[in-house]
Amino acid sequence: MSSPAPARVVVDLDLPGPIINRHVYGHFAEHLGRCIYGGFFVGEDSDIPNTRGIRDDVVAALRALDIPNLRWPGGCFADEYHWKDGIGPREQRPRMVNSHWGDVVEDNSFGTHEFMDLVELLGTEAYVNGNVGSGTVQEMSEWIEYLTRDDDSPMAALRRANGRDEPWKVPFFGIGNETWGCGGNMRADEYAALARQYSTFVRDHAGNTVTRIAAGANIDDYDWTEALMQGAGSPGFSYQAISLHYYTHTGPWEDKGSATEFSEEEWYLALARAARAEELVARHATIMDKHDPEKKVGLVFDEWGTWWNVEPGTNPGFLYQQNTVRDALVASLHFDGFHRHADRLLMANIAQTVNVLQAMILTDPDSGALVLTPTYHVFAMNKGHQDAASLAAHVLLEEEPRVVDGRALPAISASASTKEGTALVSLSHLDASAPRTVVLDLRGREVAGFSARVLTGEGTAAHNTPEQPEAVAPVALEDVRPHERGLEIVLPPHSFTTVELQLA
Ligand code: AHR
Repeated sequence: MSSPAPARVVVDLDLPGPIINRHVYGHFAEHLGRCIYGGFFVGEDSDIPNTRGIRDDVVAALRALDIPNLRWPGGCFADEYHWKDGIGPREQRPRMVNSHWGDVVEDNSFGTHEFMDLVELLGTEAYVNGNVGSGTVQEMSEWIEYLTRDDDSPMAALRRANGRDEPWKVPFFGIGNETWGCGGNMRADEYAALARQYSTFVRDHAGNTVTRIAAGANIDDYDWTEALMQGAGSPGFSYQAISLHYYTHTGPWEDKGSATEFSEEEWYLALARAARAEELVARHATIMDKHDPEKKVGLVFDEWGTWWNVEPGTNPGFLYQQNTVRDALVASLHFDGFHRHADRLLMANIAQTVNVLQAMILTDPDSGALVLTPTYHVFAMNKGHQDAASLAAHVLLEEEPRVVDGRALPAISASASTKEGTALVSLSHLDASAPRTVVLDLRGREVAGFSARVLTGEGTAAHNTPEQPEAVAPVALEDVRPHERGLEIVLPPHSFTTVELQLA
């Protein structure tokens, strides 16, 4: 079989588009399996080096990603969480059952103060998700008062009594989670009314301005978005954002597919399903545009990523899965779509940061050893897109795209951005087995210098373990040279590449 003609990726360096909000590189930490306990929090008495119980190695790894925000405490857990159970002396905190995730007893040792401590250690911003499903308006109202008020109000006084004088900043607050499902099994019109009501009492205190995020649609439930946009009243008045959840898996819900053992067909199927995320963003955004042409209401894609069958032998309620080169490309395809919809997308949060679903970090339950996943490296390589101006990147291929799951899946996906005299181009090469030459056609500005990094592994299912932590890690890409149109690059099969350009 003859090799395909070189691909062309055309980037107009002098036509900056909307800014890519750094918050699309957001994170999510739920009281689920070993995400909080063992992942982030090991307690002060642990042998694992920690600061007030929070793992130092996890903090250092995430600080290197410049993570812009962290969503907590759920997820489904948020709608059965009562925040007052998680404050005050730890030994006096009541226990509860985490009925969604493994039916385990939660001792509330990680609560509001511990979360805000984690936020400060990470140098990130808090996205606190409130409880609509089993909570009250008063409970939600008091939580934001406790977190952010600076005078002698009852909740500010309670916070001080618990050892924190200064209020915290909480820029993002979720009004329930998946209220069409685990958050209360509501109808869209019912929830729209509740979202308006609860949002009213999530007040801005002491100069803290909250973006209230209404619990949005599951996948392609466009009627839900329509109801929330209609129900918001004047756009942005009650709630300033609405969310969207979509997970990538290849099998049905009952048997989602193995994280590490998959066929070539499943490789392409996962990638096609990941690429669907962009279509979902575009279609929900179109509905939002109809009601809100000025784009006052943001779209928050606050749960995305792969959801595979749990690692054999682990608790099915803990959602612990491995993470391969395939997960890395699922992530890079999401980011390409996010960059192209920077005008409406306010935030996105991968599910989840440590030890759950498409994690950045996996920790060994016995030794405590930490492993950075291929997905972590995509976040690191794409870091430069945060708060950069998006640039159009057109992929031109001579061959017809593969059709998978009823969708065209071109062999290459690309996105680009520019800031501070530099440009960053991200290239996902989806072909499972053959390398591909790409001509990067750079227009509109002179390029003074370049460097490229590539992430791939021995096979599409390559992944990192404590024994082989660098099986999938970025390295300098040598196969890149100047070309009359810009640069010529040879992309290895199943790889993710970033090219950083210094602009003259
Ligand atoms: O991320 C795991 C779960 O997926 C979340 O708790 C829930 O919101 C979603 O169904």
